Amino acid sequence: MSYDLIIKGGTLVAPGADSQLKEQSLDIAISKGKIVEIHHEISPAKGPVLNAKGLHVLPGLIDTQVHFREPGLTYKEDFESGSRSALFGGITAYFEMPNTKPPVTKLSLLQQKYDLSAHRCHTHYAYFGGSTGTDFEELHLMEDHPHCPGIKIFMGTSTGGYLVDQDEILDQILKKTQRRLVVHAEDETTLQARKHLAQEDPHPHTHYKWRNEESAIRATQRILKLARDNNRTLHILHITTAEEVEILKQNRDIATFEILPQHLTLTAPECYERLGTLAQMNPPIRDKRHQEALWKAIVDGSVTVMGSDHAPHTLEEKAKPYPESPSGIPGVQTTLPLMLNFVNQGRLPLTRFVELMAENPKKLYGIQGKGRIEIGADADLTIVDLHQEKVLENKWIQSKCGYTPYDGMKLKGWPKIVLLNGEVVLQDDQLLKPAQGKPLNFKK
Ligand code: DOR
Repeated sequence: MSYDLIIKGGTLVAPGADSQLKEQSLDIAISKGKIVEIHHEISPAKGPVLNAKGLHVLPGLIDTQVHFREPGLTYKEDFESGSRSALFGGITAYFEMPNTKPPVTKLSLLQQKYDLSAHRCHTHYAYFGGSTGTDFEELHLMEDHPHCPGIKIFMGTSTGGYLVDQDEILDQILKKTQRRLVVHAEDETTLQARKHLAQEDPHPHTHYKWRNEESAIRATQRILKLARDNNRTLHILHITTAEEVEILKQNRDIATFEILPQHLTLTAPECYERLGTLAQMNPPIRDKRHQEALWKAIVDGSVTVMGSDHAPHTLEEKAKPYPESPSGIPGVQTTLPLMLNFVNQGRLPLTRFVELMAENPKKLYGIQGKGRIEIGADADLTIVDLHQEKVLENKWIQSKCGYTPYDGMKLKGWPKIVLLNGEVVLQDDQLLKPAQGKPLNFKK
């Protein structure tokens, strides 16, 4: 038997006999883009060898929340630049959000995104449908699209002004959808009532006082109640408060949630003084008390997935005076190095990180062929060097925005090699192949 590629000598993060993720010294053989053998010792005579000695081999990481701005806002990002940034950051598949221009509220607009993506994406891709409270009949058409992970809604205004904030409309959406509803939970009424704070003290450090804990907690409580009344399930994005973590733990039977690296890394008020509007995002960066609760949820297993919420804006836009400055922090390229640095600091095990960005996204959304190193899986792999130390710099960022709020941070642990469909597409920051991402498939 001859293989297309053998990855030798690496430490795999893959399920053990008890199905739990473990770090194991194993070789992998790849044929026709699939993993076909995993063994302690695969003979180098059986095919070309990629030496992974000293490196960790992870399943290709899946970022389940990015904003790539196409169509409509491509001066900020497009599918090519966004997916290139993802690949450089060791991500092999992304789920992109519907707050593009126009918002994706119809099957035809959803299909347009897949059409625009063909041959331009450096990673695999999937697009959420959305709702602005009209076109209810389109919701199930979008959900039934073979490559669509589901419907995402905004309960509070953010970029794009795309919003559903009334209980009657949320109720309709829950009745007209079947897949787990994905939610940005900030309460619009609370946000509007407190907006004067941002006018009175127009400095970014007002952002988390304007969009306070109550606005997040209230929205999460409202959508949980509506979901329970409708016997439906939810996935709540970017949780930021200690209180929501507790509420969600009590609602595990119907709700999963996501935490972002931004909320684990940056802390108010320091980040606003140091970074100004570069730290401005929704829901906002909060204080240490909340950050500690989020870390606890990362370590104790309560949180299901980590996404980047990559939300690029140009530096010119970010330079507008607060609160006219847009909210959003780029992050698709920096999530992996930031989190590997935390792994090196002993804040979380590497296996837990892989659970959050591969194993659990696979299970939560039913992604086919991805997210786990196992026989028969697609050979999408993220190979990392946990020992490499380097300063994260704006010049490394591939996103059109060209910056990261973490510029100048020294990090230990970096992506080294990325394989897509069994081929090495990136090595040591060199792009080796033209874009060859494909739409993701879901078990429906
Ligand atoms: O800060 C944010 N920016 N939060 C969101 O939910 C949307 C995002 C964007 O699209 O810019």
